[in-house]
Amino acid sequence: MTELASKLDDVSQRFAAAVDRANDEQALESVRVAYLGRSGEVTTVRRAIGALPPGERPEAGRVINDAVAAMERRLQTAYEALESRQFDAELSSSIDVTFPSVRGPAGSIHPARRIIEESCAYFARHGFAVVVGPEAEPDYYNFDALNIPSDHPAREGFDSFWISDTLLLRPHTSPMQIRTMQQHRPPIAIVAPGKCFRRDAVDARHLFQFHQVEGLLVAEGIHFGHLKGMLTGLCRELFGAAQNVRFRPSYFPFTEPSAEVDTTCPKCKGTGMLGSQSCNMCGGSAWIELGGSGMVHPNVLREVGYDPDRYSGWAFGFGVERLGLARYEVDDIRRFAKSDPDFLAQLS
Ligand code: PHE
Repeated sequence: MTELASKLDDVSQRFAAAVDRANDEQALESVRVAYLGRSGEVTTVRRAIGALPPGERPEAGRVINDAVAAMERRLQTAYEALESRQFDAELSSSIDVTFPSVRGPAGSIHPARRIIEESCAYFARHGFAVVVGPEAEPDYYNFDALNIPSDHPAREGFDSFWISDTLLLRPHTSPMQIRTMQQHRPPIAIVAPGKCFRRDAVDARHLFQFHQVEGLLVAEGIHFGHLKGMLTGLCRELFGAAQNVRFRPSYFPFTEPSAEVDTTCPKCKGTGMLGSQSCNMCGGSAWIELGGSGMVHPNVLREVGYDPDRYSGWAFGFGVERLGLARYEVDDIRRFAKSDPDFLAQLS
């Protein structure tokens, strides 16, 4: 019995070494045949059982079976290791580097940018130049030159971020009217898009940083009808041919007469109703407010050295995000400032 056990030990050790040396399937298979095959080494050991006293035979059989089980496990592990090594080798030699890669997510034009671009394209088509200017402006350009002297109550309507006693983040794009008129003689036709800043409390309709598109046309014989025509055309360009535009009498120090501009609510199609409910986009009014407009005030023309008896003009300033609310039927203006990729992708 002890002789059998030490023989078995010897066989197992040599088997283990042979398995470790085998580095392909064929080699492993010949190790298996040599040790565990019908006429392999284990069979020889098994035959020796017959020479043992009958009482020791069952125990000897169990010991051999255990050793065989261990050897088979070892063989199995070796097969698996070999297989995974082969798989890795195949992978690294079979990768097709010309195979097209997975497309990464693409960005999109921000809806505010798109509205600016389309508005500018509309005016450019009608002969307007696109101009841009500083976002921090002296109070002269923001107010004084626009007929808003320092004691004028209209300044309070522009609750501003002041950088110094005289410099502020522009609360509107109207300074570009002054800058352009000071640099050029009439006729003038410009559109001026850009960022504006106001110390407004942020809510579903207000941002403290937003965009405006400003327009200015000054020449001989310009009248309010030209303004109506161009702004109606702009709204139809942005919202579709069925769009209407409404002018409500209003007040701005730099225009006279002045008008607030509304356009048909695109959500309820100007009915104020969605089914039996009042429209939540326009609050049932059927109109969306876009911004201010009017005929350039004679004082403003005088300020830049234009003769108000010879030249007249119109100007307007629209909120880009306001246009966006209507255009994309968005319920909350803050969405335009959040850079949420899912929201932006929906509108692209
Ligand atoms: N600048 C005005 C505003 O921001 C809008 C406006 C522009 C009104 C041009 C009249 C003419 O409220």
